[in-house]
This record gives sequence, structure tokens and C-alpha cells, in this order.
Amino acid sequence: MGVVVAIDGPSGAGKSSTSKAVAIRAGWNYLDTGALYRAVTWLALEHKIEASAQILLALQKSPIRFESDPHNPQIFVGEEQVTQSIRGSSVTENVSRISAMPEIRHELLKIQREIIDKAEKGIVVEGRDIATVVAPDAALKIFLTADLDSRTVRREGEIDDKEIDVRASLDSRDLIDSTREISPLVMARDAVEIDSTYLDLSETIDRVWELLRERSLLGLPIVAILGRPNVGKSTLINRFIGRREAIVEDIPGVTRDRVQYECEWGGRRFIVMDTGGWEAKPDGISIAVSAGAEVAMEEADVLAFVVDAQVGALDEDEILVQHLRKAKKPLILIGNKVDGEREESDAHGLWSLGLGEPYFVSALHGRGSGDLLDHIVKELPEVGRAGSADGFRRVALIGRPNVGKSSLLNALAGTQRSLVDDVAGTTRDPVDELIEFGGSTWRFIDTAGLKKRANQASGTDYYASLRTQSALERAEVAVVVLDASEPITEQDLRVITMVEEAGKAMVIVMNKWDLVDEDRRDQLDKEIDRHLDQVEWAQRVNVAAKTGWHRDRLAPALRTALDSWERRVPTAKLNSFLGALIGATPPPVRAGKAPKIYYATQAGIAPPKFVVFSNGWIEASYRRFIERRLREEFGFAGTPVQVAIRVKERD
Ligand code: DC
Repeated sequence: MGVVVAIDGPSGAGKSSTSKAVAIRAGWNYLDTGALYRAVTWLALEHKIEASAQILLALQKSPIRFESDPHNPQIFVGEEQVTQSIRGSSVTENVSRISAMPEIRHELLKIQREIIDKAEKGIVVEGRDIATVVAPDAALKIFLTADLDSRTVRREGEIDDKEIDVRASLDSRDLIDSTREISPLVMARDAVEIDSTYLDLSETIDRVWELLRERSLLGLPIVAILGRPNVGKSTLINRFIGRREAIVEDIPGVTRDRVQYECEWGGRRFIVMDTGGWEAKPDGISIAVSAGAEVAMEEADVLAFVVDAQVGALDEDEILVQHLRKAKKPLILIGNKVDGEREESDAHGLWSLGLGEPYFVSALHGRGSGDLLDHIVKELPEVGRAGSADGFRRVALIGRPNVGKSSLLNALAGTQRSLVDDVAGTTRDPVDELIEFGGSTWRFIDTAGLKKRANQASGTDYYASLRTQSALERAEVAVVVLDASEPITEQDLRVITMVEEAGKAMVIVMNKWDLVDEDRRDQLDKEIDRHLDQVEWAQRVNVAAKTGWHRDRLAPALRTALDSWERRVPTAKLNSFLGALIGATPPPVRAGKAPKIYYATQAGIAPPKFVVFSNGWIEASYRRFIERRLREEFGFAGTPVQVAIRVKERD
């Protein structure tokens, strides 16, 4: 089963168009569950049957089949194609009643799950109870809304019959949705609400796309580095990933496994795959390509072929080129070991391979590697072939030693702990744990670090902080555990600052609350006022991990924090807020000049980043003032918010 995206929301909010478009863009399948309910209704009307038992019988004779290609979704009842006929008014009038029958829902649930299980890469599923009943583990759940007026306008544009009172019909469907007992329209608690009232279709799609990207649900592109042994593939990979891993140089004749590394260039993340020795066996005329390289060619999105430019292209290189061509994938020719101008002019012979322009680099010294990476990034497909994440929210549990991190983990998990491997293909240790609590599964990052005792030799602090840092990098939200029974320390504050600087969502757990008495409580309030002022936005949850007291408070706090972390404020709303703000409190005059603020935009999410454009310098205090008011207006509990001022000459 691939990635499941569940989209729900009231009629007319744009579910179908959005779901189909997202599925097309990602190369995934699409399932319109409403069409299934409509098809059953159509069948019931055809046979003039009412009772659910009769309908189920009819369904056995004429099973429903949904073709889930988002370009052309089609639905069949038995042999009959009913894609159009299920849109008629008699079906629309009766579908609510039929779809409220528990037996029918049960039957369709099976069909829906089969279709979802079959989708290998991913599927976008729209409909009522997807996020709660059909696919409660969906990697991304969207609740798409819009106000009644804009839904009316959209629906009116879709249908020809001007006689129909669209508004009244939507209104009555809203009512049915909100009162029906079997499948009321409810927003799953871990769903993201997208209000499309002020968004057009492409903006809505972009918003979903942004969430998919942020949560690593789109497979990263894979670039396979291929070439004979000793042409410098590993050095090149070290150059790409910007660190010196212990990669053993190729040993001719020895086939190594394909190793993958994540790398980032120009804001795009991708996987580089080291293919090890590319084995050429000159037994007579045949040259066998190593199995590893063969598989790499199959699995990759882009093939990068490395040749030692000082040696030039050998006969076997040319034979390898033929293999590469057959793969019919973007192919990049790299001439390595080109350390200067003179070597570069010598290396021009590589043009003769007929693979287009060679990119000349010195993997060892870095020459040309920036241009090469620019080019590789241009060739990357939007969605790659690497496995995507599982969609479980990633939590870093951090804090100084002895505050009770492990006890908290135990209190949350009970016995439901399972160790999981990290992202397939990377070289990290299997140290994450999947833990279920509060109705969701959470991925706790690097829990192995928690088990280490804190009584190690000097230098431990440094390594602990490195470990915290790297857990934070991979996490979406941090749970910072403090010991409420002891004074807040410097080290506690350092951990909190790390979260802020990493731009992650945060929940602060005040643990050992069972040891907090009246006096300590007064003291703690003072410490919070004094030290936690700068992270006032973070929710604090008082917990006693030892007894399990209040452990159920954590999940809602995490959800709120993540929700804020990924929130996007529509540009129109943002600017009407800003306009009012500036009107009431203009930026301070400086050196006799009053700076003007033009407009603001939200440049990104996770965490929310805002850019305010002005014609001159704006003081930091005013920037903080904007941030504070933004929070008051739009919430953002649990997440850092970044506000940048950009000075721009009006054109
Ligand atoms: O999205 P639509 O209008 O085609 O849906 C048709 C009806 O089916 C709608 O009134 C609600 C119902 N339905 C449902 O009960 N459960 C689903 N998963 C999808 C649709």
C-alpha cells in the first residue's frame, strides 16, 4: 500500500477537483467514494428496491468497479458504465438515504479498502468517513471547507440547469451531513483544515502539495552515480553530501550494495545512490554490467555517469553507455578529475561518447561541483522513486538528563512499543520507535539516545547536545521535558532555545508534578515568568510520568502545535490584518522619516514564515510587535513564527 491522502469536507468545497489534480500531479490513484454510494443508489433505483438486504443481493449480481485513474475515473455497476448516470438528480436526491444504511456502508467499506490496498504508489481518497473509518491511518488528512456563498457560486458554474436552487440544495445537504447518525461529516482530529473560500483551485492544490512535501510524503528523486571502479564516484558523493563518510573506495571485482545518501541543493532534497563497482568482464566480447548497477539503473530517476577524464573513455565505457541509454532516463555525463583549465581542454574528448555536454568536475577539490549540482537538480522529477515516509508525525523527546524522558515514554506507550528501521536505504541506526497514544501513532525519533545513562565521562554534554540536534533535525515537533520539582536550569533553557532555533513545534512537559507542593508551585510560576517568557507560545503540560497522571494531555497539545506549525494564513486575510495594524499603530519614525509598509506574504510553513515588505528599515521592536499581533490574531500556539522585513524599492 502506498501513501493515502484522505480529503473530506462539505459538498461543493472542491474535494473532487482538488483530489484528482493532486493525484495526477503525484502520479497516484484516485478514489471518489461518493461515486460508489451513488452507484449503489443508481442500482437500487434501477431495480426499484428499497431494503438493504435486497440491495446487497443486487450488488452481488452486479458488483461495483471503480477505475482509479485520476485522468479518467470511471465507475461500473456490473457491465454497465454509470459514470454519467450517477450524477442525475434522482440519484442525488436518494443517495443520502441509501448511504445512511449501515449494511451498505459496511459493504462499501470493503470495496474501498481493497482499492486503497491495491494502490502501490499512493492514492487520494475523497469522501465522508475516509479519515475516521476507512483509512484512519491515512498519512495526510485534509478537511476542505469553504463558506456557503462560494460553494454555491462554484456549484452553479458546474451545472447547466439554472432552475435548480443550488444554495438551498447545498444548505439542506449541510444539514443532513451534520445530523446524520451513521456518517456525519466530522473533521478527524488529526486533519488539517483548508478553508478554500479565498483560494482558487490551483492555490488549494498548492496548499495540499506543500503539506505533502513538508511531511516527506512525496518520494524523493534518486540519482544513481554509475561508472567503472576508481573513477571517483565515492569522492563525488562525499562532495555532494558535504561530509566525509567512511565510504570505502571501489575495489574492482567486488560488488557492493547500493548505498543511499540524502542530500540537498538549492532547496531540493534528493537521494544519491552509490552503485559501487561497475563490473566489466572482458570475457571475449561480452561485458557484464554488475547486478547492483543494473538494479540502480532500474530504481533511479536520474543516471549520472562518471568517467575518469584523465584516462578518457575506454571501450568498456562505451558499452556501458549503451546500457545506460536503454534505461531511457535523464542521463548526465560527468568527467571527473578535471582539476584545472588545462585538464579541461584535454577532457573534451568525452563529447565523443555522444551523451551531450560533459560536466567537468574535480570531486576531490570541488571544482565545477556547484554547476553540476545545479544541473542535476534541474533534471529531477517532482516526485521521485524513493520510498516516502509513513506519515506518522515525528516527535523528538528531549531534555537534560534525569528529568524523566524514559518514564514519560513508558507512560505514553504502555506496552505498545515497536522499534522501527529508519528510512529505507539510509545508513542510520534503527532507533526510532512507533508509539500509539491518544488515538494516533507517533514516530519517536532516536529513542536509543534516551536509554543511555547519564554517568559518562566528560564530553557527554557535547555529544548529548549533538544527538539532540540531529533528533531535532528529523523531528517535526519537540517534547521538551523539564523536572517541575527542581529549579529550571541553564541547560533546560538551552534545550528550549535549540528547538526554537531549529524552527520546530514544541510542547513543554512539566514532569514529576507529583513532587510539586504549594511552595514549589509558587516558585515555579516565578521561574516560568522569568525564563520562559520568550517561548510563551509553547503549551505547557503538567504530568506525572511515574503515575501516568495527565499523560492523556500530551496528544492534544502535540496536535495543536503541529497544526499551528503547518498553518497558512491566506494572503488577503494577512494583508487586511496588517493594514488595520499599521493604521492603528504605524512603525516608529526614524531620523525624521516614517517608513512605509507595503504588504506581507507568508513565505512558508513548518514553521510559519512571514515576509513584510517595506521601503525602509523597520526596528526590531516593531517586528516583534507584528509577530505578537499575528499570534493574537491567528493563533500559532505551539510553534515559532518567523517574521522578516524586506526592504524593497517601489517600482
Ligand atoms: O461527494 P458526492 O456528492 O458524490 O457524495 C454523494 C453522497 O454520498 C453524499 O451525500 C454523501 C454520501 N457519501 C457518504 O456517505 N460517504 C462517503 N464516503 C462518500 C459519500
